[in-house]
This record gives sequence, structure tokens and C-alpha cells, in this order.
Amino acid sequence: MQQVDALQGELLAAIASASSPEGLEAVRVGALGKSGSVTALLKTLGGMDPEARAAAGPAYNGLRETVAAALAERRTALDAEALAARLASERIDMTLPMPAPARGSVHPISQVMDELAEIFADLGFAVAEGPEIESEWYNFDALNFAPDHPARAMHDTFFLPGADPEHGGKWLLRTHTSPVQVRAMLAAPPPVRVIAPGRVYRCDSDATHTPMFHQVEGLVVDRSIHLGHLKGTIEAFVRAFFEIDDVRLRYRPSYFPFTEPSMEVDVACSFEGGRVKIGGAGTRWMEIMGSGVVHPRVLANCGVDPEAWSGFAFGCGIDRLAMLKYGMPDLRAFFDADLRWLKHYGFGALSVPTLSQGVGA
Ligand code: DAH
Repeated sequence: MQQVDALQGELLAAIASASSPEGLEAVRVGALGKSGSVTALLKTLGGMDPEARAAAGPAYNGLRETVAAALAERRTALDAEALAARLASERIDMTLPMPAPARGSVHPISQVMDELAEIFADLGFAVAEGPEIESEWYNFDALNFAPDHPARAMHDTFFLPGADPEHGGKWLLRTHTSPVQVRAMLAAPPPVRVIAPGRVYRCDSDATHTPMFHQVEGLVVDRSIHLGHLKGTIEAFVRAFFEIDDVRLRYRPSYFPFTEPSMEVDVACSFEGGRVKIGGAGTRWMEIMGSGVVHPRVLANCGVDPEAWSGFAFGCGIDRLAMLKYGMPDLRAFFDADLRWLKHYGFGALSVPTLSQGVGA
């Protein structure tokens, strides 16, 4: 048994002094491996007579268990040491100042869209969306454009190949946000109160027109909606958007197939130093949007009973609103992705428009 004690002492000392997982593994193989010292001892049990085996068996097995336990314990300790060393060597000082981040800014169009959403949310409007690739039915037919009416041709439509399997007619890039009216009415029964900002496309390009531009659509459908509601809403919007109380609006009769009556809305303004200034004292007029009472046929096309419900709608160019509010002279610069322009006219990413702090950011 002295032999066992001596071997145990020797092995425990080797385990305690192993300073790496590899060193410890070598000790384990030397003791418990196939030709290890403890394994060799255990092998001798087979050749012993029963009496000697009864005495040696528990001692040899005890040796094996003690050594295995010591190996496991040392392994855990070495792993912990290795982890601590790694954590220390890979430590990151989070308190170090960051290198200056690349600075982006919010495009004036996105800014104005956020302002619109904020203003109209306050009036109880939700934001609705529709696809930019639209079917002729949503863009024209459902909105009461007669098949041969010149208004259809006036839209300078980009048509796409293929036909809409559901309604017939062509696919196209939507020429206005008005098809979102149709989608909003089909999506849920009235009352409806939505705005729909988004991209629209027309085959047109010069200093004041780009083939892609932005509009916002507004639609309200409820019981007994009339022109008074339309005028009140537009006035509240113009005041909040331009952040002036002194607003004068003029409603001019116009024609849109989907509204009856239809009106264009002008806002009083003046020109000061080559810049447009919106304000009631001005003696000039600037057209800002189209509007009207939703045509009963449009309601019917969208599954809304025109005897029970009525509505008003409006649509206006967002790019133009941005130019008027922020004094940007050239529409084309909006889409040039010129970093100097964005730096000058862009908005801070964190300056979210709120009504209480002024939507102008
Ligand atoms: N969709 C029209 C356009 O692009 C604008 C418009 C006018 C929208 C009158 C309306 C509306 O909702 O009522 O020219």
C-alpha cells in the first residue's frame, strides 16, 4: 500500500504543478491512459489471488478516483485562468471617446413627409400606403377617369408590359397618390381618415418637373362630410405646416374626375428678394393643391354606399411644399444626391418634428 500512497503523492503533485491544459493532459495520460501508471496497477488485480485482490482492489480504485477528481478540479481551475487571461487581454475600454462618426442628414422630402404625418396624426389621420407599380384600374378606372377622357392622356403615364389579371387593363407606374384612396376604401369600411405620402411618376422633365416626384393624398369618408370639413382641414394643415397664423386661402373651381365639385387651393403669398413668402398679407397667389368632394361614383366603385356616406379628398406635391417652406429654388437638386446640397438643406437625424416644438425642426 505504500506504493499506492507514493504514486498518489507523486501524481497529485504533478497535477498541482501542471500549468497548462496540455501539461495536465500529459499527466492524465501518464496515469489513467492505456499504459498509464494507475492503469498498470489496476491490471495487476486480475492476476492476484482473491485475498490479496480484496485488499488491493479498494486501494487501487480509490487511487484512480482520487487522481481523476484531482485532474477534473485542476482542469476547471486552468480553464478559469485561461478565460481570465483572455478577458484581460481582450478588454475594451468603452469609456474611450469614439472617433467622429460619419454624419448623415435627413433629406428635406423625408423631413416634410414626417411633418405631414405629424400634423395629420394630430387631426386624427392614419398614414396609408399603396404600391408604386399600380394597375390601370386603381390609377384611373376606379377613380372615374372615362376610358377616352383627356385627363387620362394628360397624366403622361409610364405604362409597363403585361395586364392586370384581376381587373384587366395595363400595369403602370402610378401617376398620382389618388389610387391609395381606392385601396384605403376597399381595405376597411368607413369612416376613413387617411393621408398617403409617396412617390409618383410621370413622363415629364424640365426645371420644374422630374419624372419621379412626391405627392401626399388625403381622404376622409364619413357621415355628412361636406366642403366645410374640407376647408377647415386644409386651413389647419396650412397653418401648422408653414407655422403662420396669418393664412389666406382661395378655392378655385377646377376639374378632377374623382371629385365633384373640384377645387384648386391657392395660398396668398408675396415675393421678397426673389423668395416666396407665404402669408395673408401677400397679394400674389400660389397654387398648393387639388381637392374636392369625393365623386359618388368613386365611392360606389370602392364598395361604399354614396347614399349613406360622403367624403372629401385632396392631393398635393410634397416637393413643392418643401421648396416653398425651406426656400429651395430648383426641384432637380432634390434628386442629384449632391452631398454639399444635402449638408446645406438636410435635417439632423435626431430632430424629429413635433407639433409642440414646431414641425419645422
Ligand atoms: N391626383 C391629382 C393630381 O395628381 C391631385 C388631386 C386633386 C388629388 C384633387 C385629390 C383631389 O385627392 O381631390 O393631379
